[in-house]
This record gives sequence, structure tokens and C-alpha cells, in this order.
Amino acid sequence: MKLTQSAVLAFAASALAAPSSTTQQEPRKVAAACSSAVSLDASTNVFKKYTLHANKFYRDEVTAAVSALSDSSLASAAAAVADVGTFLWIDTIANIAKIEPALADVPCDHILGLVIYDLPGRDCAAKASNGELKVGEISKYKSQYIDPIVKLIKAYPNTAFALVIEPDSLPNLVTNADKDTCKQSASGYRDGVAYALKNLNLPNVVMYIDAGHGGWLGWDANLKPGAQELAKAYTSAGKPKQFRGISTNVAGWNAWDLSPGEFSTASDAKYNKCQNEKIYVTTFGAALKTAGMPNHAIVDTGRNGVTGLRKEWGDWCNVHGAGFGVRPTADTGTELADAFVWIKPGGESDGTSDTSANRYDSFCGKDDAFKPAPEAGTWNQVYFEDLIKNANPSF
Ligand code: GLC
Repeated sequence: MKLTQSAVLAFAASALAAPSSTTQQEPRKVAAACSSAVSLDASTNVFKKYTLHANKFYRDEVTAAVSALSDSSLASAAAAVADVGTFLWIDTIANIAKIEPALADVPCDHILGLVIYDLPGRDCAAKASNGELKVGEISKYKSQYIDPIVKLIKAYPNTAFALVIEPDSLPNLVTNADKDTCKQSASGYRDGVAYALKNLNLPNVVMYIDAGHGGWLGWDANLKPGAQELAKAYTSAGKPKQFRGISTNVAGWNAWDLSPGEFSTASDAKYNKCQNEKIYVTTFGAALKTAGMPNHAIVDTGRNGVTGLRKEWGDWCNVHGAGFGVRPTADTGTELADAFVWIKPGGESDGTSDTSANRYDSFCGKDDAFKPAPEAGTWNQVYFEDLIKNANPSF
């Protein structure tokens, strides 16, 4: 299943020979994976050494979007998005097939970011991202989802991988434990996350577990139980060496260091000191340390360029007026924050606004949600164009 050297070269050659589009993106580089095995030291910030790779799938989505634009200045701004390092979501068993093609053009100084996202009973507190595996299908999750990913990563020892493990899952167990769906999902989430952490603990991998955002586990009452829930996953996985800490603000909207924070005048603000992600990373990081877990963070800045758009802090679906945020960088100015990264691929929907759809969630029908919006994960051209127009910094 591993691509042979000639297949890689043929792939790269065909990519270079492809007719040039209207985009100004750099030509896809010929693969230059490292000549020897990669060994990542998770006690250090690997983003200081490696650049988050601009993966082929997002590049292709963006390139298609650019060709649909008639405004040439918008088109050239949009084309630049294709070169921004972004995580690739492995959100179904079938999409494991995206990994090998995405590896073909990863140079030795780049790291490929993958989101591991297919737990049984996924997205238990919402509907928009309900997944393919039902509650109880944990052995399928292990043998048909995690195990094949492990096998693939082992087959590419010369490539570096950054993994974000199961967005929203453990935070939901902390704050939505009263919902029947989350009650039913709980044991599978705990078992599945620990299994993923234990088995993906490979030398060429660095792992981050999802910790929601400041408006979620940052509430005074959630900090300690949140840290304990995450630490339990780390401990039951046998304290994996390649584990580095947490991801925050995944597919989120919070500003990094806006002060006073966006929701600091809300009536309940006194119960949450984590009014921006910087304070959250520091405050929750301290709670994680107390709970006995590595506590460095990567923060999704993909869509947080504009603030003041949400009516309520918990609004999460296709927030109207959003703009692309700070590009991936390891210069965060905060020791606990390894990097700003793009995790949610901007332009892919958070959820459908079609009220008759199975996965319609009322959050996607709120006043501050962009409409019409397609199913979660599918492309929303107008929303993408808005992200460019509102980008901060601009493209
Ligand atoms: C949502 C979708 C998922 C998609 C991801 C990234 O969570 O449910 O299918 O891959 O967003 O766009």
C-alpha cells in the first residue's frame, strides 16, 4: 500500500505538468521526505523545527474555489490561501484513503497535520457532525479506523505528523454529561481516545488532545474536572511519550489575546477568567499540570480574524462575518503555546442550515449563523469568499 518511489515521482511530475490555473500558488513541490527516520521530541516544541504542511486536499478545494471567482484581486488573495498550512480531517474510515496522497508532497522540514475524528456517537451534544459509527461500535473504531492509520504512519517513518485527537469529545463529557446522547457515548469516548493515544504513540508523531476553548472548559467550575478528564485519558493510555498537550479553539472563533475579552461584559463573565485563548491556555495549562499531564497547546487561528460577531459565546456554527486569522506560526510569545495553526479548513461548513436535514442543528439556524450552509465538512463558496474579504491579517 506504500507508494513506491516511482509512483511518488510520477505523482509529483503529473502535478507539476498539470495545466496552470489562474491561481498564483506555488507549484506543488516534488516530494522530499527525509532521508532517514523522523524522531520527534515531544518534550520540545516541534513547530519550531517543522512548518505545518499546506495539504493537497485543502489546496485542491481552494484552487477549485479560485477558479469560480471572476474578481481578479479576490482571486489572487484567495489563491494565497492554498499555501497556508492546514490540518487534514480524517472524519470517516473511507477518508483514511486521503492520507497517502497527502504524503506525496511533504518535504523534510514540514509536518503533516491530521485530525483524528471518528469516535462512535460522535458530536454527542450537537447534531451537525454526528458521525458514521454508532454508540457501541468501539471495536470497529479500533480495528477499522485507528489501526489502519497506525499502520500507515508506521509505513512512512521519514515523515513527521502532528495529530489532533478527537475534537470536542472529552470536553462534551465534562459539560454535557446530563444529555442522554453524551451519557451513551461516554465509555466509548474514553476507551477510544485512550486507544488512539496509546497506539498512535509513534516516533514520527506528536499528539495533542482536544480541550475545547476558553468559553467551554474555561469556566471556574469546569477547569478542574476538565483537566482531570483529559489527564485520565493520558494516564489510561500509559502516558505516551509522544504526547505534548492540548489543542484549543478548534473550528472556533475566540481571539488569542483580545483584552478585555469578547464576552467580558456578559452577566456571567465573573465566573470565567479565560476571556481569551491566551488566558485559557495559561489557566487550563496550570490545571493540567496539577492533574499530571503535559500541558503545551496549539491554538486554531483559522477563522478568528474578526471578533464581536457572536450573540453568545457558545455559538459555533458558520459564524457570519468571520475572517481568516493569523497564519500558522510557532512565534506565539507564550511558552505554553507551541503554535498558532489552522485546524478547521476555512470554507468547509460547520453544519447544514437545511432544517429538514437529518443532521440539522438549531445552532446553524441562529441569527448569527451564515445561511444557506451545506452539510458539515462540505464547501461553502460564499462563506469562503467572506473569510478572505474579512481576513485579519489580510491576504
Ligand atoms: C466537521 C465535519 C467533518 C469535517 C470537519 C472539517 O466537523 O463534521 O466532516 O471533516 O468539520 O471541515
